[in-house]
Amino acid sequence: MNALISTNLFLKKQKDFSRGKVRDIYNINDQLLVLVASDRISAFDQVLPKPIPYKGQVLNQIASFYLDLTKDLVPNWKIAEPDPHVTIGTKCTPLPVEFVIRGYLAGHAWRTYNSGLRTLCGETLPDGLRENDPLPFPILTPTTKALSGHDMDISKLELINQNILQKSELEQLEHYAQTLFKAGSDHAASQNLILVDTKYEFGIHQGKFMLIDEIHTPDSSRYFYKDSYESIQSKDQQQRQLSKEFVRQWLIENGFQGLDGQLIPHMSDEFINTISQRYIELYEHITGKTFIKRSYSNISETIETSVNSFIINYFDN
Ligand SMILES: Nc1ncnc2c1ncn2[C@@H]1O[C@H](COP(=O)(O)OP(=O)(O)O)[C@@H](O)[C@H]1O
Ligand SMILES: [Mg+2]
Repeated sequence: MNALISTNLFLKKQKDFSRGKVRDIYNINDQLLVLVASDRISAFDQVLPKPIPYKGQVLNQIASFYLDLTKDLVPNWKIAEPDPHVTIGTKCTPLPVEFVIRGYLAGHAWRTYNSGLRTLCGETLPDGLRENDPLPFPILTPTTKALSGHDMDISKLELINQNILQKSELEQLEHYAQTLFKAGSDHAASQNLILVDTKYEFGIHQGKFMLIDEIHTPDSSRYFYKDSYESIQSKDQQQRQLSKEFVRQWLIENGFQGLDGQLIPHMSDEFINTISQRYIELYEHITGKTFIKRSYSNISETIETSVNSFIINYFDN
């Protein structure tokens, strides 16, 4: 199977290089970041042993689509998309906080609620909710970015008390996150989807906040199908999951939740293909466009050439 597991590019004006769980990150002259979305897939904060064909392209193109769509609402880092797997943009200093916004009670929020708690990151939740029910209004449930391992929930009050953000900064960023979530939800609704929850990252550039990283992708968000949502909820059944939640569920069913000592179950080629299909399906559903499968032949050289010609051009002008 063709897939982009990782890259080892030689880029003009390249300074350092690092590898995230999913993206390969090239620092160009301390000014630009080249983010290559590989076909690696992570779940429960661990990279799974096999890559998913076209996943990087899907991720990069969905993020890029939404960065373009929202650029007048919130300033973001994107400058160019020289290859289906690559976005280039402004290098920022990332804040050590992930801005998670939830419109529905799903995933970690549901597990917390179901254990009996009625607050999440300092937000009070009403009694009587079922899994995947809508929340009264979208809530911010921030997490601190752990250097390794799982991210930790934190309340807005603690973000201020621990001097991670000032009150006014937090207010601006919460406003940004809510604005983006509204735009994402409205667009999803127009495509017959529900944006359930998502996370945003922000950085600082020349004293101003900027949206960085990916947005509204199947890796950073949950989506439900809108047309079947009500009938499924009324029957107390599980919502049909697009994207990564379906991989997480498969892992849990096969005894893996990312805990120490647990082994990642074997992923058959058939299963890999199903995941790939689901990612492509979500791309088409979200954007309303037909997914055009990129060519994997000489992919590294192709990426290197396109990115380098962008860099040369950028610093010439
Ligand atoms: N414009 C930017 N400036 C600085 N850092 C960024 C920018 N955009 C994304 N990043 C960082 O690049 C990394 C992306 O790689 P990813 O594979 O998602 O890593 P992770 O394993 O940390 O999630 C993240 O750590 C993210 O914070
Ligand atoms: Mg990430």
